[in-house]
Amino acid sequence: AKIIIAGAPASGKGTQCEMLTAAYGCVHLSTGDMLRAAVAAGTPLGKSAAAAMDAGALVPDDVVIGMIVERLGGEDVAARGWLLDGFPRTGAQAAALAEAGVVPNAVLTLDVGVDTLVRRVTGRRSDPETGKVYHLEFAPPPNEEVAARLVCRSDDTEDKVRVRVAAFEEHASAIAGQYPGMVRVDGERPVDEVAADIKGVVDAAL
Ligand code: AP5
Ligand code: ZN
Repeated sequence: AKIIIAGAPASGKGTQCEMLTAAYGCVHLSTGDMLRAAVAAGTPLGKSAAAAMDAGALVPDDVVIGMIVERLGGEDVAARGWLLDGFPRTGAQAAALAEAGVVPNAVLTLDVGVDTLVRRVTGRRSDPETGKVYHLEFAPPPNEEVAARLVCRSDDTEDKVRVRVAAFEEHASAIAGQYPGMVRVDGERPVDEVAADIKGVVDAAL
């Protein structure tokens, strides 16, 4: 399957992608995760992206486009299909994908109101050992040992999520314009209910 999953910061893209990779076997490509890995590794790309990410602003299009187009050329991606999480995020990024001949089976966007986004961001914690994402209230860690090692993303503050939401809203109509068949899913429900809706949309598109 070739799936694009869009939505505001903390709308649940990464969480839903876990379900989608399990269901369809495709490769999960999150530009946010790729950029955070580059920052942690101190690569030139990471160094050029760090300041924008820490401020909650978008990284320049050319940086992100180059990174994702290269990754889409990988053999695993050709064999298993892909799941784009958080890309494209601007009209220019969507145009670059189309120019590269990359055409999705399905494009979905998760609709979640800003108050819920703020609550999801401020309670999010991740496990540096497994990469698993939790929420203090909505998806608590399984035991004390995991709870003790959880970390917070540097852009997960209330102030920065508002900057990130504004960046998302600025480009939302350009993205929707590039994908007239984009399906909106109500993301403000339990994880399993959202997952079932997404699966229905993808199955119908395959
Ligand atoms: P990125 O990592 O993509 O961040 P984002 O878009 O802000 O999205 P998040 O990862 O914060 O949220 P999510 O939707 O994955 O939600 P999650 O499932 O974790 O990008 C980070 C930065 O990188 C950007 O700001 C930018 O600087 C840069 N960047 C990335 N891509 C770029 C691009 N294409 N162009 C330019 N710059 C780019 O869920 C959130 C929380 O809610 C979790 O705690 C989870 O447990 C909980 N939760 C999830 N679903 C539910 C539910 N249904 N009910 C209750 N709780 C839930
Ligand atoms: Zn994410």
